[in-house]
Amino acid sequence: MAAHLPEDRPIRWGLLGAGGIARNVSEDISRTEGNVVGAVAARDGERAAEFAAQFPGATSYGSYAELVADPEVDVVYVATTHPSHHEQALMAIAAGKPVLVEKPVCLNARQTHEVLAAARHADVFAMEAMWMRTNPLIRQAEQLVADGAIGDLLGLRAEFGLGLPFDPSHRLYDMSNGGGSLLDLGIYVVTFGYLFLGRPDQVRTTGTLSPTGSEDRVAMQWDYANGTGARLWCSASVSAPNQAVLLGSNGWIATEGAFHRPSGLVISQGDPSRGGGRQHVPDPIAGRGHGYGPEIAEVARCLRAGLIESPLVPHADTIAVMALLDEARADLGVKYPGE
Ligand SMILES: NC(=O)c1ccc[n+]([C@@H]2O[C@H](COP(=O)([O-])OP(=O)(O)OC[C@H]3O[C@@H](n4cnc5c(N)ncnc54)[C@H](OP(=O)(O)O)[C@@H]3O)[C@@H](O)[C@H]2O)c1
Repeated sequence: MAAHLPEDRPIRWGLLGAGGIARNVSEDISRTEGNVVGAVAARDGERAAEFAAQFPGATSYGSYAELVADPEVDVVYVATTHPSHHEQALMAIAAGKPVLVEKPVCLNARQTHEVLAAARHADVFAMEAMWMRTNPLIRQAEQLVADGAIGDLLGLRAEFGLGLPFDPSHRLYDMSNGGGSLLDLGIYVVTFGYLFLGRPDQVRTTGTLSPTGSEDRVAMQWDYANGTGARLWCSASVSAPNQAVLLGSNGWIATEGAFHRPSGLVISQGDPSRGGGRQHVPDPIAGRGHGYGPEIAEVARCLRAGLIESPLVPHADTIAVMALLDEARADLGVKYPGE
């Protein structure tokens, strides 16, 4: 068990990278009781200083190595683009810092395993920033299915289309910066499928590539020996409603809004003509920031309890999802430089 962080002072977060997601998550860190942004590092020290100036008392660094060496930092949040995660997470762990690493933790399952094994070996906390798994409505859907609210789970579908026009320099399309819809968007639909159904027995993947060779539209059909199945789809260029639906023998559950951060759930139980009906579950965290609060609170809870792994985002699941994404990329013939 790792050292417990004390209860009597806020947890001080250190951010590696001062880009898009770092901004949203740091605003939610400030909103989440018992957590503060303590330090920010960026390749450009001036940009880091500008970012840090928005958070009272936060220090800034022009190098990632300086931040991970800062004794005032309790937990490092790796918020750079995917190809940097492996080296930066290992650097933080080597410095004895707990880490929250943006999804995907690394470019592939091998690297992801290395990072999580290093954290275990060093006895420090590590978690994939798969915030969907900490979302209260997703957790409620899990509980409803486990309680048999829709009978036996027969299958599911989930889609995530961003509608981002092709731009070879954007990280979603730039292969040298971890481009591709699978690691950015597909990771949510694959995590959703894995969360409810586990590892499939058979996978069929089809898709189209963008002009840079990154995957764009990807469709995955998962089948299981017991007859259940999942239909999963993602795309960088195509916009979609981004709904997920769980289909049961006695009803269904559908998300409202983007499924990875739903704004509500609709539950249909039984046969409506025989007294079955629909229920609506509103979002308990509506209006509270960008929706990262439950993820931040879960990291804080684990650190205060001295855990090295969150039961909500287990290491084994993070690696299993990456292995499925590796297989999907292999089926489409997509490799990253150096792989
Ligand atoms: N959880 C979520 O909801 C969510 C949402 C969006 C993205 N993400 C994940 O968060 C990560 C960052 O995404 P983002 O949208 O924030 O990306 P971004 O704004 O394009 O880049 C984030 C930071 O990565 C570094 N970086 C960018 N391009 C680089 C390059 N070519 N070489 C070296 N470093 C580079 C920069 O760090 P410096 O500031 O140090 O220069 C940049 O500020 C990705 O892994 C993504 O999958 C998660």
